[in-house]
Amino acid sequence: MRLSRYFLPVLKETPAEAQIVSHRLMLRAGMIKQASAGNYSWLPLGYRVLKKVERIVHEEQVRAGHIPLLMPTLQSADLWRESGRYDAYGPEMLRIRDRHDRDMLYGPTNEEMITDIFRSYVNSYRDLPLTLYHIQWKFRDEVRPRFGVMRGREFLMKDGYNFDLSKEAALHAYNRHLVSYLRTYERMGLQAIPMRADSGPIGGDDTHEFLVLAETGESEVFYDSEITDLKFGDREIDYGSVEQCQAVLEEFTSRYARTDETHDPALFDQIPEARRRVARGIEVGQIFYFGTKYSEPMGATVQTAEGGKVPVHMGSHGIGVSRLVGALIEANHDENGIIWPEGVTPFPCGIVNLRQGDGETDAACERLYAALTKAGLEPLYDDRDERAGAKFATMDLIGLPWRLTVGPRGLKNGVVELTSRRSGASEELAPEDAVARLQEIYAPHRALSASVPLPV
Ligand SMILES: Nc1ncnc2c1ncn2[C@@H]1O[C@H](COP(=O)(O)OP(=O)(O)O)[C@@H](O)[C@H]1O
Ligand SMILES: [Mg+2]
Repeated sequence: MRLSRYFLPVLKETPAEAQIVSHRLMLRAGMIKQASAGNYSWLPLGYRVLKKVERIVHEEQVRAGHIPLLMPTLQSADLWRESGRYDAYGPEMLRIRDRHDRDMLYGPTNEEMITDIFRSYVNSYRDLPLTLYHIQWKFRDEVRPRFGVMRGREFLMKDGYNFDLSKEAALHAYNRHLVSYLRTYERMGLQAIPMRADSGPIGGDDTHEFLVLAETGESEVFYDSEITDLKFGDREIDYGSVEQCQAVLEEFTSRYARTDETHDPALFDQIPEARRRVARGIEVGQIFYFGTKYSEPMGATVQTAEGGKVPVHMGSHGIGVSRLVGALIEANHDENGIIWPEGVTPFPCGIVNLRQGDGETDAACERLYAALTKAGLEPLYDDRDERAGAKFATMDLIGLPWRLTVGPRGLKNGVVELTSRRSGASEELAPEDAVARLQEIYAPHRALSASVPLPV
């Protein structure tokens, strides 16, 4: 992509309405534009990051054996009357009436609809276990939408639903989700800590929220500092193995980590004082086991091997896809702008031409551009007729993790400069070596993508 041909409406001024850094930077970097309260257009740069995040979420769900589908945003109120939630949900639900006076709603979540799909087609224990998920826009009429995409009214969520024959099988699905979530966040360069949480309007006994530590987080969290040393890393996991998934759950949830809703001061005080942490966090996901709460009233049953009929055990599992874009910035920025982790960056690298219009410099940039594109590392090439300082400022603001700087002085010695956005460290390299370095840097990310089939 050439910046002169791109649509990147960066702002010079700091927008006054934005209270937190991710919201400010998303507006300044031309990633989003507010359409109405809590409702945003994703401009090209923001859209790219959203899609990267979405893709990682898809890949890790497919890797765990979960199956993607797509349900509509608009739902019929009748389904929600069956579960009893039409009245229970309250003013957060956006209720709509169609021309035939039928009650509709913009889905805040999909337990009812997925249960209806399930009961329409599945009758036998032989078809279990089954986990279906989708990544779809939700609407919740939040009293106080704020912080940009972090607490929106319309937001993108991955929500998955497991159907199992027994509580034990459903708890395995719960554990599988926990593992897949750890992998998902780590691939994005984020640490998200599973914390014991409260189940709220979804209902149920077992639930963990995943929290990214950040001063601007809306939840107060209490945890044992040892938990932040845990890494899932690149270990192999067999998602079919009950023991392996259970072991990961135990490893990541045995230390104290709770949100204010479930905080137990007496238990907390049993941790050595030096390890007690009180902080704030951003909820980027939540997993629930809720048994037969929906399957029973809605008649989602299966025939057992013995011939009887039983309601299926279910759980639901959400990831805040659009919120993650904000959370990623909260966790990765400095005073000059965003610093994207390689896994989610909108472009793998930028090219800055220090002397636009100089024949040799332009030609060197074009060669780099072609080589990177051929290597599958689509660069954002700043080919505008601007001062170097302005080009650097734009690159720093939009946060591409790697920048290639090309100028006449370096070219005389046959080199370009490769700069890390995170450390600021630069290295002079022959152009072909710079391309090779970038290929090396991105290889692990591409290998992870290549190791699962394209989800859809
Ligand atoms: N208003 C919102 N704006 C953006 N993301 C949201 C919003 N509400 C929830 N999410 C994201 O969707 C995920 C799953 O939602 P859920 O747990 O059902 O929401 P909640 O905890 O608010 O009831 C949350 O972990 C969060 O990351
Ligand atoms: Mg939640």
